[in-house]
Amino acid sequence: MAEQQRIIINGGKRLEGEIPVQGAKNSALPLLAATVLCSGECVLHNCPHLSDCDAACRILECIGCRCRREKNTVTVDPTVISGTEVPTQLMREMRSSIIFLGSVLSRCHTCRLSFPGGCELGPRPIDFHIKALREMGAVIEERHGYLECSAPKGLHGARITLSFSSVGATENIMLAAALADGVTEIHNAAREPEIVDLANFINKCGGKIKGAGGSTVVIEGAEKLAGCEHRIIPDRIAAATYLYCGAITGGELILTGADHAALRPVTAVLEQMGCSIYTYGEGNIFINARRPLTSPGTIRTNVHPGFPTDAQPPLMALTAVSAGTTVFVENIFENRFKHAGELVRLGANISVEGRVAVVIGVKSLSGAELVATDLRGGAALVTAGLAADGTTRISGISHIDRGYENIEQVLRSVGADVKRQ
Ligand code: UD1
Repeated sequence: MAEQQRIIINGGKRLEGEIPVQGAKNSALPLLAATVLCSGECVLHNCPHLSDCDAACRILECIGCRCRREKNTVTVDPTVISGTEVPTQLMREMRSSIIFLGSVLSRCHTCRLSFPGGCELGPRPIDFHIKALREMGAVIEERHGYLECSAPKGLHGARITLSFSSVGATENIMLAAALADGVTEIHNAAREPEIVDLANFINKCGGKIKGAGGSTVVIEGAEKLAGCEHRIIPDRIAAATYLYCGAITGGELILTGADHAALRPVTAVLEQMGCSIYTYGEGNIFINARRPLTSPGTIRTNVHPGFPTDAQPPLMALTAVSAGTTVFVENIFENRFKHAGELVRLGANISVEGRVAVVIGVKSLSGAELVATDLRGGAALVTAGLAADGTTRISGISHIDRGYENIEQVLRSVGADVKRQ
């Protein structure tokens, strides 16, 4: 069982070599949800083999779709939808399963799922999702911990203004609007690359979405969407994590199959810290780091194209051994510094006050027993462990497996001494 397993790292090995970047988890999940909208087979290439993607496939199977995985290609046959309920267990396993609400409701005009509740990053409300779907004609009731949703007359287009550019809400509205009657406008939409990937997929299937990647997205509802074949974009957060892993060991890495533009907020910070970064060819990024690196000053997480909140925890590990003081201001989630306490166990000097963390760089870290309590926080512990003297043992690694494909194998392939046991 992954839960009892640990990742064991003997730190201090310089990383050197090439890492192919996996497909984006945060794109794969809404794309798998989008297949529900289609009347024909959908083939998703570059779909990372992660527990979250497996959970999404199980949701698809629960509602009657057929899913087949062959290496990193997932084929979904959504021709027959026989159920409209997402079981509680799957909702609990993956909070982002709320993303199925828009597509199931759009296709079947009814959907029942348990309320997603909180998560390790603090409360994660879904009020934007619900308000928008109501504006599109959905009747949504909360009963006994369940969301009972229906759209007896089908969904219709609406002019929706989000009070915050929520990624999940923007995706859910796009999914709901793709088959709705009329035109939907999303104002103050999220602009993340994953939104663009979703729009590209839906448009390939015959949908009519304009403006994705900008703050106004316009969706003209289609009568029907066909299936299509699509390659999922590279995972910018996994790529960022491996760049930090290279940097913290003073190493030299080449990432292949990355998206330079999507990574710009991350590479800009690494350059500021003293790393040399070169991008070349189709998606190759070379990083060369000579420690000690220096603090990048203040990092404020923000919506895209600001610094991504998901890249904050592993960057904190890197700044823990960089000269000077780094201040992190977490603007997206209210409880996203749990990894700080674990990094302190390795000898880092970090103090947290609400949404602000202050990191004073130390010369070295030393191995300890750590617990991962969330996905990117777990990645921070792995990053730090690579630089710590001695052995670091990390438990709670099922969190890490939600977002990183074979993390220990990837790191071993570039020279790390890391195993799962
Ligand atoms: C997605 C990503 C996650 C990333 C986050 C921010 C996926 C599967 N997950 O999560 O990795 O960290 O974007 O880039 O793509 N909010 C509300 N009400 C709502 C919805 C959101 O108040 O109805 C708040 C949240 O509590 C949070 C903020 O808005 O404080 C951002 O959340 P959102 O952009 O929706 O994140 P997710 O889509 O859940």
